[in-house]
Amino acid sequence: MTLKDKILVTGGTGFIGSHTVVELQNAGYEVVIVDNLSNSREEVVDSIEQITGERPSFEKVDCLDKESLKKVFEEYAGIRAIIHFAASKAVGESVQKPLMYYRNNLGSLLNLLDLMPQYGVEGIVFSSSCTVYGQPDVLPVTERAPIKKAESPYGNTKQICEAIIQDDVKSGAPISAILLRYFNPIGAHPSGLIGELPNGVPQNLVPFITQTAMGIREQLSVFGDDYDTPDGSCIRDYINVVDLAKAHVHAISRILQKKQEEPVEVFNVGTGRGLSVLELVHAFEASTGVKLNYKIAGRRAGDIVKVWADPKKANEVLGWHAEETIEDTLRSAWKWQVHLRETGIQ
Ligand code: WQD
Repeated sequence: MTLKDKILVTGGTGFIGSHTVVELQNAGYEVVIVDNLSNSREEVVDSIEQITGERPSFEKVDCLDKESLKKVFEEYAGIRAIIHFAASKAVGESVQKPLMYYRNNLGSLLNLLDLMPQYGVEGIVFSSSCTVYGQPDVLPVTERAPIKKAESPYGNTKQICEAIIQDDVKSGAPISAILLRYFNPIGAHPSGLIGELPNGVPQNLVPFITQTAMGIREQLSVFGDDYDTPDGSCIRDYINVVDLAKAHVHAISRILQKKQEEPVEVFNVGTGRGLSVLELVHAFEASTGVKLNYKIAGRRAGDIVKVWADPKKANEVLGWHAEETIEDTLRSAWKWQVHLRETGIQ
């Protein structure tokens, strides 16, 4: 029995993290999750085991607590790489609590980068975001697009974390890195056992849609239909969360097989297809058969008008392609919302 390569996943009980743990296990990796459960539930570990038949190791640790993090590297010797999801990620909240965002998002990464060389960890996959591009001048947006001044402290922490990793590697740190710039992750695992479970009132579009469809929210507000787009509503690149999770597995194997052409590589992880808010609302109704109560409301401050990826580099270099249709993805989001109701979680 060959020993499995061990991967540490920070934030592994979260939305994208949990789906990535499933895909890592499916690909034959051994997974250790650290999560402080500030925005997720420990029961997600049970759901992952239900899906894959294999229980990942779990340690309730805050990545800001360097001593506890150190103990994890000691207890689980031989961690070869890290996927770092653990971060605060609400754009609006980051405007209200910038110091918490800078402390949490930068401090956690700095602890990991400090500890990696001490424990022979070869590489890190960092959860970044298309938000680093702001409103691109040219669409679709490629990895060569200029980084614009962030519109929120959250977006700024992603830009700064990318720079921290670049500078650490440039200084000679014996590690490599892959930065994955996500577009808009949506949907849930086809089993309906894991998915997005935002705290409180959802900020993001799709959980607000499914909670409205479930009757938890009264009505969806479409934030503006007077933008310079075909139907006036904002355009985004909505990517299925399982497709996104698989991109992380490609990134991990690229690091471990030492296929990287540079010590730090950047990939846009999107479908390459732009969809407006109204198109997505209508696609939800068509694919689930559930009527949605919505109204057109005023614009939301800070919204980018339109952004979608040019995924060519991820397709050709990472060997990854988005596969799921928007219809199946929205059906999976609805199935998850029904599961939450049936299990009394929401
Ligand atoms: C999408 C569109 C809204 C809610 C942010 C972050 C990004 C990532 C995903 C963390 C916009 C419209 C939304 C609603 C609406 N975050 N909308 N009514 O803002 O593109 O991206 O979340 O990883 O980094 O920047 O996502 O889902 O909030 O909004 O009309 O109730 O839906 O105006 O046009 P966004 P979103």
